[in-house]
Amino acid sequence: MNNSELKKLFNSMTLSEKVGQMGQVTPDFFSNEGETTGPVADIKLNTGELYSIGSILGTHKPEQVIDIQKKYLENNRLGIPLMFMADVIHGYETIFPIPLALASTFDTNLVKKVAQLSSKEAVGNGIHVTFSPMADLVRDPRWGRVLESNGEDPHLSSKLTQAYVEGYQGKSLLHKNTLASCVKHFLGYGSSEAGRDYNTVSVSDLELYQNHLPAFKAAIEAQVKLVMTSFNTVKGIPSSANKWLLGNVLRKELGFDGIIISDWGAIQELINHRIAEDSKEATRLAVEAGVDIDMMTSSYIKHLGDFIEDGEINIETINQAVWRILTLKNELGLFEDPYRGLMKLENLDQNLDNIRKELEPITRSVASDSLVLLKNEGILPIKTKSTKVGLIGPKAQTKDLLGAWSWIGDKSEVISIYEGLQEQFERLTLSTIDDTDSISKQDLVIVALGENSDESGEAASRSSIQLQQEQVELLKKVYEINQNVVVLLINGRPIDLTNIVNYCKAILECWFPGTSGGAAIADVLCGRVNPSAKLPMSFPASVGQIPIYYNYLSTGRPKNESNKDEKYISKYLDIANDPLYPFGFGLSFSNFECGKVEFSSGSLSKDAPIKITVTIKNLSNISGKTVVQLYIEDKIAEVARPVRELKGFTKVSVEPLGCEEVVFEITDKDLMYIHSNLKESADKGSFNVYIGFDSLAPKVGEFVLV
Ligand code: NOJ
Repeated sequence: MNNSELKKLFNSMTLSEKVGQMGQVTPDFFSNEGETTGPVADIKLNTGELYSIGSILGTHKPEQVIDIQKKYLENNRLGIPLMFMADVIHGYETIFPIPLALASTFDTNLVKKVAQLSSKEAVGNGIHVTFSPMADLVRDPRWGRVLESNGEDPHLSSKLTQAYVEGYQGKSLLHKNTLASCVKHFLGYGSSEAGRDYNTVSVSDLELYQNHLPAFKAAIEAQVKLVMTSFNTVKGIPSSANKWLLGNVLRKELGFDGIIISDWGAIQELINHRIAEDSKEATRLAVEAGVDIDMMTSSYIKHLGDFIEDGEINIETINQAVWRILTLKNELGLFEDPYRGLMKLENLDQNLDNIRKELEPITRSVASDSLVLLKNEGILPIKTKSTKVGLIGPKAQTKDLLGAWSWIGDKSEVISIYEGLQEQFERLTLSTIDDTDSISKQDLVIVALGENSDESGEAASRSSIQLQQEQVELLKKVYEINQNVVVLLINGRPIDLTNIVNYCKAILECWFPGTSGGAAIADVLCGRVNPSAKLPMSFPASVGQIPIYYNYLSTGRPKNESNKDEKYISKYLDIANDPLYPFGFGLSFSNFECGKVEFSSGSLSKDAPIKITVTIKNLSNISGKTVVQLYIEDKIAEVARPVRELKGFTKVSVEPLGCEEVVFEITDKDLMYIHSNLKESADKGSFNVYIGFDSLAPKVGEFVLV
């Protein structure tokens, strides 16, 4: 539809038809299936309201979408099609590793590819919009939703957020297999106090701008179509009612002109936050703050009309929201084809089968690229097929490898660890702890431990982030019998591994690896794939260190080698300050070294960026990939700055005994930070540069911004 046709349609809408567009419910209002991701308020819609609702969230099958759309169009006066949204977080039916695992790849191309493929399958199922990516900055592994995040670093998260949006949306939503992307949750949700989901958030403006905003900014620069509000308060006001946040920051400063959608039931929850007396007041607060779509309450549908008729809210507010919604429907091509290609397919099931067949092998390679080798005392890879391998532990045979946010994922398709290992090792024995004799006879024993999928994700916060005691006991018993132990970890968050790290020779962090998880794990164990992933979040040495992150600010009494025994410095009496495994850390079977580092100049200016070239050597005879990381430190600044910040990362493959050059470009933009006036600029002066393979990388030089 061209713009004037769309305007014409818009002008013919009644007030209640307009208000309807701003509502969103699950498909069970039309049929009896749908996902529930929050408490369901008592929503009663009459037929007129139902057939003017704007969008649906959480359908399962293409037939269901066709059915609902058909019914709807037969009843909607103007024939304005529904838009179908869903949480396509790490795949639709074919499940890729969880986002935190994908972040471990530090590979923007891979993330973009995953988003493209997830779109393809979701589009085949009739979905138009995905509630992804989650760009929340996270520093607290007690919060179960770290699983959905890109980790603790604003630079990494921004690059990955951009990759997701580009992958989902492609160049135009009119192209086949694209989804509109909804970045979430705006803003600060990752800082829920004490890691408890839905809890209070209290962060300074400086902190919000410096660390929480960049990934959202990246999404908006990548033309993301929707932004979802967060459940939490920002400066005391819940996001869905926060005029400053949505009006000033999101619309004016970031220039976002797409759709703002509330999170599930969040408008009604303004009552629980005790900033609204009832749903009528909640409606006024949310619409005035700028929320365009009310997800899963009937507040807008029931009250907006009255506000307009009473002249309490300007119709322009509603017109703008509805125009944005219709514009997106138009961009998706829904007016021309409300079924977005589904009706033209001869056989929907066959189409989905083909897509699944295309995706499944890719889930395997993506998963093997996301496994982080945390410890290896020469025991991995397992070199021969005939090695006697024992396998034990609660995760050995489980199909629960998809992780949270995999509603439609088919567990029966999952390759378990046992099945994956069977393919690679001829002498694999599944053991139990009573089998002391068998355990003692193995060349090595793999102990598969971790979380169940409902122990991380939304509403899955934990106060302890250690493995369950029974799992620790099991490991210790195995280790007593046979010390050649390899631990595999299945989990959705950083785990405190201090009580297990000494009872094994290797640890492979497998996250929730998705549909082909077991095969991918076996690929790494046998050395077919050389691990290259790196931690996107610090692994604490104790829950008491949380929040913990590598880019902490310089303090007045920093701890260092020379003062570590003094009393009045920033430290714990009982444990070290450092995490057990730092951000950016992950081992390889190869042995990489940073060689010569060359700076194109010792100084940098606005018009003259500098190039820093580093030679990466592979000293081993195994080819491999690694992530070269560049950090900078602003030596003197107006406000306290991080001790170091990631500013560049590159994944590089290096042949056995070979070397590769990696070039980083640093511009004055990379040196900008948020000052006390909340404006971004760079201060002239010196910067230290660190390059290496994790956030403890050594200093390689300095430069001056002139
Ligand atoms: C609640 C979650 O917070 C949000 O991330 C999700 O997209 C919605 N439910 C819809 O399922």
